[in-house]
Amino acid sequence: MRFVFFGAPGAGKGTMAVEASAEFGLPHVSTGEIFRAAIRDATPLGLRVKAVIEAGGLVTDDITIQLIQERLALPDASRGWLLDGFPRTLPQARALAGLCPEDWVIDLEVSDARVIQRLSGRRNCSKCSHSYHVTLKPPLVEGVCDACGSPLYVRDDDREESVRNRLVAYRTQTAPLVDYYRTRGTLVPVDGEGDAASVWAALKVIMTRLMEGERP
Ligand code: AP5
Ligand code: MG
Repeated sequence: MRFVFFGAPGAGKGTMAVEASAEFGLPHVSTGEIFRAAIRDATPLGLRVKAVIEAGGLVTDDITIQLIQERLALPDASRGWLLDGFPRTLPQARALAGLCPEDWVIDLEVSDARVIQRLSGRRNCSKCSHSYHVTLKPPLVEGVCDACGSPLYVRDDDREESVRNRLVAYRTQTAPLVDYYRTRGTLVPVDGEGDAASVWAALKVIMTRLMEGERP
């Protein structure tokens, strides 16, 4: 089954997609993670997108759509996927619909205050896709990933000014997709405001029902 994890920066897309990928055995495809790995490895793609990502802007549709086209053509994506951070614009949503239409869009709804609180304390693993929070979801050992033991770091785009830019990009370019998916009948609103364990517990029930063929 094909799920899009949708929501504002800090809504919990990555956190919930990691849980869902382990639970349901579907690949977690995060455009943000792919871009950050490319920046880390200084590939031609990384060099092209570094400045715009660190400033909190959006990478162009051409680059992002091509990336997703190539990623979803890999064999592990043939049984389904969990998309995290894509689509983020109307052209991207239309491209996905033409390429490989989503079954469901999980829209993690959170308040602005929660977003700011989560992003200001986030720590990410430098190797795998796990993310933590200094108070809301601390690792067992400070500064170290529970899952793989690698050091944690603060994302460049979690600086205050970049966060502001990401929120503007979300409101102006991404949030309008809620109406687009509502019209397609694939939108599944989920309350993302609670702590990570309770949001995941509720989401797991919802996703299990969807996978069994129930309607939301
Ligand atoms: P991306 O990596 O997708 O960033 P984002 O959308 O801004 O989302 P975040 O990763 O910041 O938030 P999240 O929802 O995953 O929250 P998380 O689970 O970490 O994209 C980065 C950049 O790449 C973009 O700005 C853009 O430049 C570029 N890009 C990517 N895709 C693109 C596209 N399609 N088109 C164009 N450009 C693109 O949670 C946040 C924190 O809260 C963590 O600390 C976590 O531990 C904690 N937390 C999570 N859930 C809970 C909970 N329920 N309770 C308590 N704490 C929680
Ligand atoms: Mg994320």
